[in-house]
Amino acid sequence: MVTSRILLALDLPSADEAVTIAQRLKDHVAGFKIGLGLLMGPGPATTAALARIGLPVFVDAKLHDIPSQVEAAARRVGQYGARWLTVHASGGRTMMEAANEGMRSGAGGGDVGILAVTVLTSLEPGDVEKIAPGTTPGKLVSRLARAAADAGVEGVVCGVPELGVVADVAPDMVRVTPGIRPAAMDRADQRRSATPAEAVARGADYLVVGRPITAAANPVEAVARINEEIAGASRG
Ligand code: C5P
Repeated sequence: MVTSRILLALDLPSADEAVTIAQRLKDHVAGFKIGLGLLMGPGPATTAALARIGLPVFVDAKLHDIPSQVEAAARRVGQYGARWLTVHASGGRTMMEAANEGMRSGAGGGDVGILAVTVLTSLEPGDVEKIAPGTTPGKLVSRLARAAADAGVEGVVCGVPELGVVADVAPDMVRVTPGIRPAAMDRADQRRSATPAEAVARGADYLVVGRPITAAANPVEAVARINEEIAGASRG
């Protein structure tokens, strides 16, 4: 068993494949993330199957609806044994508080929390400018992270470039970041990606990593290499 900061994104076609690779890698990662593909296909019971493996499960549903709807959904997610659930910070304080309440009541008092998604890493500065003229991804992340902190949620999801902004406005929150590509990997199609070492240097607590591990010829070797890169950056 190694101490890892990796939340393994299980973006696989079936629950069986997700559980199989999760079993294989459970001693090398900090937890498992399931996203909309599995939630809308095999369904939320996949959460329970993963939770039985014994590591934290991060349900990346990115909820954004009226507070009562989000609370009801969060309660279900808590009942399935998830450790974290994502909601969009732009849903507002009352919605984030409702999500927190739902997860806690669903989990029956267990150790669970909400992660607030700030600005999707797929958005370019031009997209942000169209949605909110005069602002930038950094400024928007700053505002949303502060709103998330005020709502009492546990953590924030943001891109690597915005990690510093989150640390400034919400230093006590857990920082989770995706878009990670190992130093040795071809980054040609990932304009906004960062290496594990860069993510750690900028203050990430957890790194969401999927295909660099799940699509590797040898996933165990791939995850070990990323853990080493993270450990090297943490020491430095
Ligand atoms: O690319 P990879 O397979 O490592 O993606 C893992 C997760 O990170 C995805 O499930 C997605 O939610 C998120 N991601 C992201 N921004 C990117 C790439 C991936 O938010 N640029």
